Amino acid sequence: MSHDSKATRIGERVLRPESLMMGFGYDPVLSEGALKCPIFQTSTFVFESAEEGKAFFQVAYGLREPGAGEIPGLIYSRLNNPDLEVLEDRLCLWDAAESAAVFASGMAAVTTSLLAFVRPGDVVLHSTPLYGGSDHFLRHVLPTWNIEAIGIPAGERPEPLEASLRERIGTRAVAAVLLETPANPTNALVDIAAVAALARRLAVPDRRPVVLVDNTFLGPLWQRPLQHGADVVIYSATKFIGGHSDTIAGAALGSAEVMAPIRGLRTFLGTMASPWTGWLLMRSLETLKMRMTAAMKNARHVARFLNEHPRVERVHYLGDLSSDHPMFDVYQRQCLGPGSLIAFEVKGGEAAAFRVLNAMRLVRLAVSLGGTESLAEHPATMTHADVPYDQQQRFGITAGMIRLSVGVEHYDDLIADLANALDAA
Ligand SMILES: Cc1ncc(COP(=O)(O)O)c(C=O)c1O
Repeated sequence: MSHDSKATRIGERVLRPESLMMGFGYDPVLSEGALKCPIFQTSTFVFESAEEGKAFFQVAYGLREPGAGEIPGLIYSRLNNPDLEVLEDRLCLWDAAESAAVFASGMAAVTTSLLAFVRPGDVVLHSTPLYGGSDHFLRHVLPTWNIEAIGIPAGERPEPLEASLRERIGTRAVAAVLLETPANPTNALVDIAAVAALARRLAVPDRRPVVLVDNTFLGPLWQRPLQHGADVVIYSATKFIGGHSDTIAGAALGSAEVMAPIRGLRTFLGTMASPWTGWLLMRSLETLKMRMTAAMKNARHVARFLNEHPRVERVHYLGDLSSDHPMFDVYQRQCLGPGSLIAFEVKGGEAAAFRVLNAMRLVRLAVSLGGTESLAEHPATMTHADVPYDQQQRFGITAGMIRLSVGVEHYDDLIADLANALDAA
């Protein structure tokens, strides 16, 4: 018996995303009754008639509005594919978004989304520090098209910068704002609503800045930027959404209106994910809440241990913000939990940090995050090696800093590994 695969209620009860991750958006009747969505490993789809093909293309290329209840037909896997469509429907549930697009990588999501809105002569505002790949695109690629990227430091109120930004921007349009909160690797927060309001005050008539928030670190469980003034939320799905350190992918989500140009550009840049990646991410979404919750709980124990360790100078962990911290109110308003990323500074600089990294056994030395296994790295010489030294200092990326992505192992085992490694510091 067929049922409405997009039903989100039983009677009065609105079902939660974790309850819908196993079946939402997938109708077994369309796939020989298979319980799980198969991998549609196909480049193209057969039309039942030439008229059908014409009708599908008219909708896909915006030549006519879809009729009431008309579902866009399957054409070609660069435009649409069932594995991506079902995945996109499920991702929308977590962020309460209308529309989503899945990409081949987080960088494909960042670059395609930005390129949908920027034009030569525009300005892009962004928080600093940013993930190295995004930072490189803004500082080295966009300027070749006469687009200037201007940084706003994370961890500080944006309002005092208004006059100097106004002067620097002049008559140019602020086309987009790219924020990353919490910042990588320092966990400094950005007040999304405050920066969005500032960008709107700096806008020229008829060009409303599009606010994009890279929510890779906390989302979608512990932060929902669309509820705080963001227009587009972006993920490196390589991290928590994929969650097993075995696939590269990205996603962007927002209203149908804001996503239309992003989805359109994805078709022409060809930056979509493959069906196999889509299938892997659907499988991962079934355990997203469990994984992110387990990792967050572990991180609390690990942070407590690190805070008390004599060889650790400082711990940057959102769960420890005191009520007199300048970003405490932003944390309270914007975040639903502290997540599982911790940066800590070892006494003795780079040499001591390297000794600790080299002595870890359970925690692996690698530059990603959000997987089931705990990973550690040295931002100053690895993920943020491209950030000039003076800026590293300004952002607080010190020589002794280690970034730790806490996984789902037993926290006592992680603490034993860290205790052993810190003995080497
Ligand atoms: C915050 C953030 N955004 C974007 C990216 C880029 O994602 P990907 O490596 O999937 O292209 C990363 C990767 O580390 C990241 O940490």
